[in-house]
Amino acid sequence: MEREKRAHIVAIPYPSQGHINPMLQFCKRLVSKGLKTTLAITTFISNSMKPVSDAVGIDIISDGCDDAGFLQADSVPDYLNRFQVAGSKTLADLIERYKNSDSPVDCVIYDSFMPWALDVAKSHGLFAGCFFTQACAVNYVYYCAHHGILQLPVTSPPVRIPGLPALELRDMPSFIYVHGSYPAYFELVLHQFLNVEKADCVFVNSFYKLEAQVVDTMSKMSPVIPIGPTVPSLYLDNRVKNDSEYGINLYHMDPTKSIDWLNTKPEGSVIYVAFGSMASVDQKQMEELAWGFKNTNTYFLWVVRDSELPKLPENFLGDDDKALIVNWSPQLKVLASKAVGCFFTHGGWNSTIEALSLGVPMVAMPQWTDQTMNAKLIVDVWKVGKRVRVGEDGVVSRGEIEGCVREVLEGKEMKENAMKWSHLAKEAVSEGGTSDKVIDEFVSTLTTSSLSHV
Ligand code: UDX
Repeated sequence: MEREKRAHIVAIPYPSQGHINPMLQFCKRLVSKGLKTTLAITTFISNSMKPVSDAVGIDIISDGCDDAGFLQADSVPDYLNRFQVAGSKTLADLIERYKNSDSPVDCVIYDSFMPWALDVAKSHGLFAGCFFTQACAVNYVYYCAHHGILQLPVTSPPVRIPGLPALELRDMPSFIYVHGSYPAYFELVLHQFLNVEKADCVFVNSFYKLEAQVVDTMSKMSPVIPIGPTVPSLYLDNRVKNDSEYGINLYHMDPTKSIDWLNTKPEGSVIYVAFGSMASVDQKQMEELAWGFKNTNTYFLWVVRDSELPKLPENFLGDDDKALIVNWSPQLKVLASKAVGCFFTHGGWNSTIEALSLGVPMVAMPQWTDQTMNAKLIVDVWKVGKRVRVGEDGVVSRGEIEGCVREVLEGKEMKENAMKWSHLAKEAVSEGGTSDKVIDEFVSTLTTSSLSHV
């Protein structure tokens, strides 16, 4: 069988919304540069979402929890263990299956949360790229912790790490800030560096000018290649055809509802509120959020997933025409709407880099994992937002919420800075930009090496 002339990449995201989105976008970008890509999602995600993607092929591996995904496992360690065992086997099977087709696999790009995928790729003699979903600054802190450069627990903050601003405890990723919390996830983020030196290249979902100092510092020890932002091309350089949305949604939505509502609102008048795909706040916090937004007396569009709805105060909305609550939103379209003046976010990395790309200032209310550190960068490094103060009772009060939102809606400087980062994000992926160039180099290396095997 004659093989295709395009090099073939199989990309393996960690199976959650915040990890699938950037990996899928990277695949689309690589297809636009002439490569063939296949996104290998889990059986459970495939069955529940039935994803379709024109440009990127979809294939399946198993996480060992085919019926219900993560919820099928007994615990986080149980899930991660099942995924490693079933994932390694089914990825190897997938590579074997393509061997005698016209497009054998040349390269595996795997989420850094799954270092076992690198072992599978290497045992098949394949080129392998590691993909870090989160900010380079966050990865570097984990790198330092993994290698003992950062001693844990932190006993005398602020922590000073070259390439990063001085970090108080609350500015560190939550697994470090609350020492001993989520031990299995903490091990997962440190294990990103277990075998990474064996990868042929290490990509990070960021862009050079956004994190120049930390990219340079980290690269002296462990080279990283910023290839982002991995936001649909329509919102950046518009060079990738038909690339206006991610294309895989883990939640059901009516995309027109939010946009039709936004279209009737004045420029810069709406607070968009969303906490990503996983975060869940308790009932008391939900009440404070609700009254905080309401007390601003401005419009707000709030993503409250169905599972969170019962936590809203009774009769909260009534016939209020200033608020719209939806289960899930077309977030990029929303952020691109002129009506949105402030993004009230948990500071997940995708949400953060989407807001930066679209020039929207933020109020960050981080919940856990990398979000605490992203909030530090949002406020003190990129100067595009405020971070709410948590009260002594562990709750962010309605007054604090209202005050932060007002400052962001009324402030000029944060908006101007956000527009500056938006311009630089677009520049990075446009022809000749920093991300564009390194992607071209990668494509050229891979194409040369795969064609030499034809
Ligand atoms: C998780 C982690 O929590 C995050 O901190 C990490 O950096 C990546 O993995 P998640 O919490 O879901 O992700 O947040 P985020 O990274 O912001 O990703 C959410 C994605 O869902 C974004 O791409 C966003 O555009 C999308 N989204 C969110 C929607 O499309 N609609 C919504 O209503 C909400």
